[in-house]
Amino acid sequence: MAHGAYPIFSVHQFVADPGQPKPELYRELTAAAHALTTGESGAVANMANVAALIWQFLPELNWAGFYRAMDGELVLGPFCGKPACIRIPFGEGVCGAAAASGESQLVADVNAFPGHIACDSASRSELVVPVTRENRVIAVIDLDAPREARFDQDDRAGIETLARLLANRI
Ligand code: SME
Repeated sequence: MAHGAYPIFSVHQFVADPGQPKPELYRELTAAAHALTTGESGAVANMANVAALIWQFLPELNWAGFYRAMDGELVLGPFCGKPACIRIPFGEGVCGAAAASGESQLVADVNAFPGHIACDSASRSELVVPVTRENRVIAVIDLDAPREARFDQDDRAGIETLARLLANRI
């Protein structure tokens, strides 16, 4: 097949049902991300499509996307939402905390997080998950929501699974 292992026309056929239980929603999101990124070596293309999938599948988001670790800081990558801060030092804000620690950050109230960086004043809660390759954080996936405590452990587990899928694809 000219375009690789997957039929190129199928990329428009992903249908999200935000009413279904979260684990199922994340299974479908991950399956869609797997289908879109399998055999594709373009890291920016893969991040762009996955940001769009997250935006399509998950309700109540005002920002979803990637920051990439470059020369010791995080640099804005593909995303959906309003224009955002371009560079974030490791250790600063929620994204920098995830990158520096290698641990996901689940923040119920961003105003209570010391050093939170307000890119979009609508953000009330945030989930940041590191993408790790060979024990190094290569990127973070950042989700922002306009409601406090929008994210729970199901969201964390779902995005961590997505991050593991992407480790060798971005
Ligand atoms: N709030 C993030 C900055 C990135 S934006 O939310 C897109 C932080 O504190 O790291």
